[in-house]
Amino acid sequence: MEKQLTGTLALAVFTAALGSLQYGYGIGVINAPQEVITQHYARTLGFPVGTERSNVTPAEGDELQVQKFSLTMYWSLSVAIFPVGGIISSFLVGFIADFRGRVKGMLVMNVLALAASLLMGLAKMGTSHIMVIAGRAIMGFYCGLSSGLVPMYIGEIAPLKYRGALGTLHQLAVVIGILISQVLGLDFLLGNDDMWHVLLGLSGVIALLQSLLLPLCPESPRYLYIKLGKKEEACKSLKRLKGDYDMSKDISEMQKEKEEAMKESKVSIWRLLRAEQYRQQLFVALMLHLSQQLSGINAIFYYSTDIFHNARVAQPVYATIGVGVVNTFFTLLSVVLVDRAGRRTLLLIGLSGMCCCAVGMTIGLVYLNTYSWMSYLSMVAVFLFVSFFEIGPGPIPWFIVAELFSQGPRPAAIALAGFCNWTSNFIVGMFFPYVKHYCDVYVFIIFAVLLFGFTIFTSLRVPETKGKTFEEISALFQKNRPAGRQVVATELQLLKGTSEA
Ligand code: GLC
Repeated sequence: MEKQLTGTLALAVFTAALGSLQYGYGIGVINAPQEVITQHYARTLGFPVGTERSNVTPAEGDELQVQKFSLTMYWSLSVAIFPVGGIISSFLVGFIADFRGRVKGMLVMNVLALAASLLMGLAKMGTSHIMVIAGRAIMGFYCGLSSGLVPMYIGEIAPLKYRGALGTLHQLAVVIGILISQVLGLDFLLGNDDMWHVLLGLSGVIALLQSLLLPLCPESPRYLYIKLGKKEEACKSLKRLKGDYDMSKDISEMQKEKEEAMKESKVSIWRLLRAEQYRQQLFVALMLHLSQQLSGINAIFYYSTDIFHNARVAQPVYATIGVGVVNTFFTLLSVVLVDRAGRRTLLLIGLSGMCCCAVGMTIGLVYLNTYSWMSYLSMVAVFLFVSFFEIGPGPIPWFIVAELFSQGPRPAAIALAGFCNWTSNFIVGMFFPYVKHYCDVYVFIIFAVLLFGFTIFTSLRVPETKGKTFEEISALFQKNRPAGRQVVATELQLLKGTSEA
């Protein structure tokens, strides 16, 4: 009898998800201690701290301006270098995943996380700005890899029935990571002048814990069988993950995928981009990742305190933590719903709900001066915006890519989707303050328009993948392709098969 959820499966998913916790921690940790860290940078650089002098000579004034500019630049770099690291490393996900396997890949990557944590944790002992920037770059690099590898591994070991719920755990760990960093970042905990380096360095504990647990986790049976052809080892892995059960169904499903993979040969990123055969899946995958980031979610996560401040909310820092709590709660709800309601439905509810909230936020900000209660409208709209995000557009893109592609093109597809995600994350993080400067209270209208477009796209082009095998999903896209192209593709496939035989 197949035990669907065994202790080993739980351990494997928990351990992998520590990589996602690291990602969330990295996103959230840099927000709260901004002031204390920049002051420390200033001291390291020999700039005056907090002395606003009024009697400065023009020459001194110029120098102060240059110092202010350098400080802003070092701070922006400390924040924005994180996604840059992710953009670069997302290309390497396929290589790391296939080189020695998913588990060894995750293990080796922790060297990066540990090095990054050490650099940041010891930053006070050296040139702090350089050490923090280097640490954030390396941590971003690590997170670019883990945000591809974790959903890939979980998707491959999860029983079909729970693939959505377990896939959503990646996002749950991300949001818990954000929440932990927001709470620890409070000034009476670690977000102060004495402890900020500990706050940044704490990520090392996550890396250590994951390194200790990974050797206990079974390798992905799909990797062992389909990629390496090691059937016996794959069976052992399956047995550890699912208990003693009749594995013939799983084996024959993997066998089919292996046959497909042999026909496909290895699909590089470049080939994936050009292959007609995968175009539809790729388009859907990339659009879902764009919709996740261009929804404006990180405008809220990076700048929520500022947004609440503008909406005249009394305690912006606590409202930000409130966002973290709501965020976590709704991700939990998504874990429960995703294998019942389905991916498509949750994406549609999430995107359209976010679109309405973006309009609500704008109305709240525009009429703030006329009606004071409008600040509540803005605040409620922010909370609902985040809730709708976590219902679908937050968690689903991360694991649906592994569902949309078979073994051959999967690593390349995850790499491309990751690249798309990290680049749009960087663009929003970097340019939101400037766009906000120009559009002022109307800034969220831009996201509302984009969200409207993404809702339409999802309703027209995204199929339901709930409860379907990888094979059935790929057949779904074949079915949706124009008839002429289908015939040509099948013929090409056949020709390729014969020429390779
Ligand atoms: C998703 C996004 C990430 C965002 C987070 C918020 O994981 O990829 O950029 O910060 O959700 O919960």
